[in-house]
Amino acid sequence: PISPMAIAFDAEKLTLSPEGPTLTRRMSDLEGLFRDHDAWSAAASGDDPIVYTVVSSPVPEVERELPQSITTIMPGDTAGELWMTKGHQHPDHQGEIYLALHGRGGLLMFDGERTEWLDMLPGTIGYIPPGWAHRSVNTGDEPYSFLAVYPGGAGHDYGWVLERGMGSRAFRAESGVDLRPYAE
Ligand code: 6PG
Ligand code: NI
Repeated sequence: PISPMAIAFDAEKLTLSPEGPTLTRRMSDLEGLFRDHDAWSAAASGDDPIVYTVVSSPVPEVERELPQSITTIMPGDTAGELWMTKGHQHPDHQGEIYLALHGRGGLLMFDGERTEWLDMLPGTIGYIPPGWAHRSVNTGDEPYSFLAVYPGGAGHDYGWVLERGMGSRAFRAESGVDLRPYAE
């Protein structure tokens, strides 16, 4: 275990200090996730934009620790499908808490049968119950950021989502978001 610590959160810059590892996901890291494979492929082999970043606190991802991270998703869409995180299931079905910090987003959850969508505006706490795969979506026109707090031993199963999907897909619409069944 590590020692008690204060982590400075800058609400303007959305940074953590001290900071742990940072992850950058580009379009090319999101293979098999967007409905329009050709549009994805063109973007991935073109300018390959950064779709999202994840900045972690120094708390390690190990059993019984409680790490945090801030995810920032850029605004954009691929053939209408809003930019999003890969999405994953926690293998041992641990729950998780999100707090929206900036911009506009959505939290799409899927338990294998049911799909749920939560609008995420700054101040919204999104609760992910055990056993619900989760994906975040930027529904606005500026970066969408949220804080996540999760059990350090939770792990990330990305194959679960590649196999089963998320029940729905989120497309850009005049009113913000148009949720369509995964298969359509
Ligand atoms: C977690 C959180 C969250 C998530 C990021 C990136 O379990 O750590 O759900 O920090 O990992 O938002 O999303 P992906 O892990 O699906 O790429
Ligand atoms: Ni998670």
